[in-house]
Amino acid sequence: MFQPMKKLAMIGCEGIGSVHLEHFLQFKDIVELAGFCDLVPEKAQNFCDIAGSGKAYKDFKAMYDEVKPDMVFICVPPFAHGEIELETIRRGIHFFVEKPLALTAEMARDIAAKVKEAGIIAAAGFQCRYSNLVEPTKQFIAENSVILVEASRITGMPELAWWHNKSKSGGMLLESTIHQLDIIRYLFDEPETVTTMGASGWVNKENSDVDELTTTMIRFRNGALGMLSSGCYATEGASFDSNITFSARDKRAIHRIIESLEIHEKEDFTPGEVAYFVTKGDGGLSKSAKITSYKQEGDAGLACDRTFIEAVVHGDSSKIRSPYDDALKTHLFALACNESLATGQTVKVTYE
Ligand SMILES: NC(=O)c1ccc[n+]([C@@H]2O[C@H](COP(=O)([O-])OP(=O)(O)OC[C@H]3O[C@@H](n4cnc5c(N)ncnc54)[C@H](O)[C@@H]3O)[C@@H](O)[C@H]2O)c1
Repeated sequence: MFQPMKKLAMIGCEGIGSVHLEHFLQFKDIVELAGFCDLVPEKAQNFCDIAGSGKAYKDFKAMYDEVKPDMVFICVPPFAHGEIELETIRRGIHFFVEKPLALTAEMARDIAAKVKEAGIIAAAGFQCRYSNLVEPTKQFIAENSVILVEASRITGMPELAWWHNKSKSGGMLLESTIHQLDIIRYLFDEPETVTTMGASGWVNKENSDVDELTTTMIRFRNGALGMLSSGCYATEGASFDSNITFSARDKRAIHRIIESLEIHEKEDFTPGEVAYFVTKGDGGLSKSAKITSYKQEGDAGLACDRTFIEAVVHGDSSKIRSPYDDALKTHLFALACNESLATGQTVKVTYE
C-alpha cells in the first residue's frame, strides 16, 4: 500500500541548521523537506530555496498547524529552548534538538519527563558519538584500566552575539565543550564530582562575560581522575587544541573527536618490565613507542541525522546513540561544572 513520505521541518535556519540542511539534501529518498522556520523570514526562505521544497515560516506554531510535520530539527540557540519543545511534545511530533538542551536543569528535566510520557522519539545533536573512532576507543578502555583522562577544547571566540552572553549561551563549557564532556561520559565513565575554576582577561571582548578559560577536575565513579581545559582565548589555529587522552599504566589513547585516534604503546612490551616509553627524561615522546593510528571515516553528523530520521520513519529508536534522556545526563554534568565555577565549591553530579 502507498505510504506518503514522512514530513520533516526545521526551526532555526542559520549556523548548524545549514549543516543539517546539507545532510537532508541527501535524504530525499526517505523524507519530505516540508517546512522551515526562523524568526528572520528571509533565512527560512533561503533554506526552502536550497531544499527546493517546503514553505517558510516565522512562527513555528503556524508551521506546525499547516505542515503537520512528523519530525522537526530544533536548531536554535540555548536561550530559545523550552516553549518550542513543550509545544512539539504536546503535538506528538518527534524531534532532534541541538545541544545544549536548555540553559537550566529544570527545563531539560521537564522536557525529558514529557518526552517519556508522550512516547515520542527525541534525540540530541551529539554527533561525535557516531564517529568510527568510538569503537576502537571503547575497546581500548575496555581492555585497559584507565587512570587519568586529560581533555581540552581550546578555540577562539565565535562571532555570535548571543554566545558572548552567559545568560544566553550558558558559557563555553555548556555551549561548546559539552561535546568533550559527552564523549568522556559515553566512552569512559560517569562523573562523581567536579571542581571548576575560571579566568579571563586576555580577550576582553566588549559585552562578553563568558570565562575565557576554565579548568575542571573530575572524579569519576570508577575512581579515575580527569582534567578538562576549555578556552576561547586563542587567536590563532596554531594555539587551538582538541583532544581527550585516556592514560593507563602502560599505554594511552589520544582521541581527537571526529578526527583521529592514536594508541601509544611499547613496541615489544614484556610484562613486568618497567614501562618508560611514554616520556623520556627530557619529557619527550620515546621513539620506542608503537603508535596505532585511526582516521575519521565518513561524516558522523550525516550518520547522526540519518539515524534519527530512519528511527522516525521505521518507528524504531534503538539505533539512536544520543536519546534525549541520556543527553540530559551530559547536560547535568556541564551544569555541575558551571555551578562549581560560580560557587568555588566541589559539586556532586547527580542525575536523579
Ligand atoms: N552539534 C554541533 O556540533 C553544533 C555545532 C554548532 C552549533 N550547535 C548548536 O546549535 C545551536 C544553534 O547554533 P547556531 O550556531 O546555529 O546559531 P545561529 O545564531 O547561527 O542560528 C540560530 C538561528 O535560530 C533562529 N532562532 C532563534 N530563536 C528562534 C525561534 N524561537 N524560532 C525560530 N527561529 C529562531 C535565529 O534567528 C537564528 O537564525 C546552539 O545551541 C549551538 O550550540 C551545535
